[in-house]
Amino acid sequence: MNAYVQKALESSNFIKKEIETLPLVGLITGTGLGDIAHALNVETIIEYRKIPHFPETTVESHHGRLIFGSLGTCRCLVMQGRFHLYEGYSPLEVTFPIRVMQELGVTHLILSNAAGGLNPGFQPGDIMLISDHINLTGSNPLIGPNESRWGSRFPDMARAYDGRWMEHAKKAGKKLGIPLQAGVYAGLKGPSLETPAEVRFLRTIGADAVGFSTVSEVIAAVHAGMTVIGFSTITNVHDPDHPEPASVSDILDVAEAAAPNLSAILEEIAADLAPTPGK
Ligand code: HPA
Repeated sequence: MNAYVQKALESSNFIKKEIETLPLVGLITGTGLGDIAHALNVETIIEYRKIPHFPETTVESHHGRLIFGSLGTCRCLVMQGRFHLYEGYSPLEVTFPIRVMQELGVTHLILSNAAGGLNPGFQPGDIMLISDHINLTGSNPLIGPNESRWGSRFPDMARAYDGRWMEHAKKAGKKLGIPLQAGVYAGLKGPSLETPAEVRFLRTIGADAVGFSTVSEVIAAVHAGMTVIGFSTITNVHDPDHPEPASVSDILDVAEAAAPNLSAILEEIAADLAPTPGK
């Protein structure tokens, strides 16, 4: 067994001793959404720094802890704060929590992020259901020897984002009166934001939103056989013909303002998962 797998097992074994029930759904919260945990019936909180081998978050707007609890009948694990390539983490480090979740028995993964809008029909504050992604990070978390315990060498990505779950999210949006956009997320390494020429390029290749997270995690999760759904909060919309500098504090404000709506949808789609859902 290689050292990385060994570390994921040590992390998950540590966590198993700390919690009462194993989670079924993992939730990775992005910028502005750390507070989804308020909706959770919290059982156990574990700080990343207490978990053997777990990376530490270096992004100020991200907490660094795992919260175990339930949303309705659904046992969840909320990861408050994720790891990014731009922090200097390797793709394997970025996706380490996915492997820990896999070892804990997580079968369903919900991801959220803050993203820049490329689709001119989008407004700041829109919530976009991620229908697909383009991996422009220049890397892949599956590079290296394949761990057959975790998945196959060439996992298929034709249905990375689960169609049935997306339909469910759309229904939840309608029921709650929360409009949802849908589109393709381009994942870059960052941290510099996009130039107007890059914005034109990203639009041309079919992207509706752009950000610096999510794609590596989704690739590992699909490899792990998880059912995946993702949401982007569109915090700023790029107009390459009238480029305006985006301010990080505006991005955080917009993400925070949209968080209650996004939380409401996430609660609805997680709470509806029976304790042993079919795939
Ligand atoms: N680009 C990349 N990531 C982002 C952006 C953006 O414009 N806005 C929020 N996250």
